[in-house]
Amino acid sequence: MDDLWPLAALRVRSGDLELRYMDDADVHALARLAADGVHTPDAMPFTVSWTRGTPTEVARSVLTYQWGARASATPAKWNLELAVVRDGEVLGSQGLGAHDFPVTRTAETGSWLGLRHHGQGIGTRMRLMILHLFFEGFDGLRATTSAFDDNAPSNGVTRRIGYTENGVDVLAREGKPATSRRYVLDRAAWDARPAGLRPEVTLVGVDGAREQLGI
Ligand SMILES: CC(C)(COP(=O)(O)OP(=O)(O)OC[C@H]1O[C@@H](n2cnc3c(N)ncnc32)[C@H](O)[C@@H]1OP(=O)(O)O)[C@@H](O)C(=O)NCCC(=O)NCCS
Repeated sequence: MDDLWPLAALRVRSGDLELRYMDDADVHALARLAADGVHTPDAMPFTVSWTRGTPTEVARSVLTYQWGARASATPAKWNLELAVVRDGEVLGSQGLGAHDFPVTRTAETGSWLGLRHHGQGIGTRMRLMILHLFFEGFDGLRATTSAFDDNAPSNGVTRRIGYTENGVDVLAREGKPATSRRYVLDRAAWDARPAGLRPEVTLVGVDGAREQLGI
């Protein structure tokens, strides 16, 4: 697949964490992880409530989403979904998606961890790793993200890294209006981030990924 689908070789490494382009074994592990819980039942961090339902329904929704994202990547529109891995265990997913990236140099991140892996600083580390791929590997200019107002950990990760607030949306969430905050991080803000947010990061397979994505 090296020549046909070079994205498959994409890796981002930092300390004991790796973000890697998911093969089927990773997608299966991610689905089983989600079935064990992504957040407490009182919360809903996502616009689409894919984490509700039986464990099997939740797992199947991860499979269809991940297979769909993988199958539909083109230079005009892509959604890279990378497995977050530590010691061979899949802990969650870190996504980076864009429309017309070669023109806009803008992409949106989104992520989740299995509930048992929350609150250990992994969310911050994986965001810094995907931003490293975006700015250093893909020559990105503007990284965007968003989170519902009541999602303290996600807003916490975003604010700490130095994003600027970029407006709010009111979205339908499980039948009720909910405020979602948008954020943007440009190249200058990325370069100005504090010393404590500059881990060593190694990129693998970036040239092939750039070729496939038309960068
Ligand atoms: C969002 C998510 C990826 C964050 O990962 P995490 O590993 O739990 O986050 P971290 O441990 O790196 O915490 C990051 C910061 O969030 C803040 N934070 C975490 N929990 C918090 C809480 N309950 N209240 C307030 N702030 C909180 C802190 O500022 C923390 O920084 P610190 O190290 O200075 O304390 C993870 O919680 C998750 O998967 N949640 C469910 C899915 C989700 O919400 N996805 C994002 C959708 S927008």
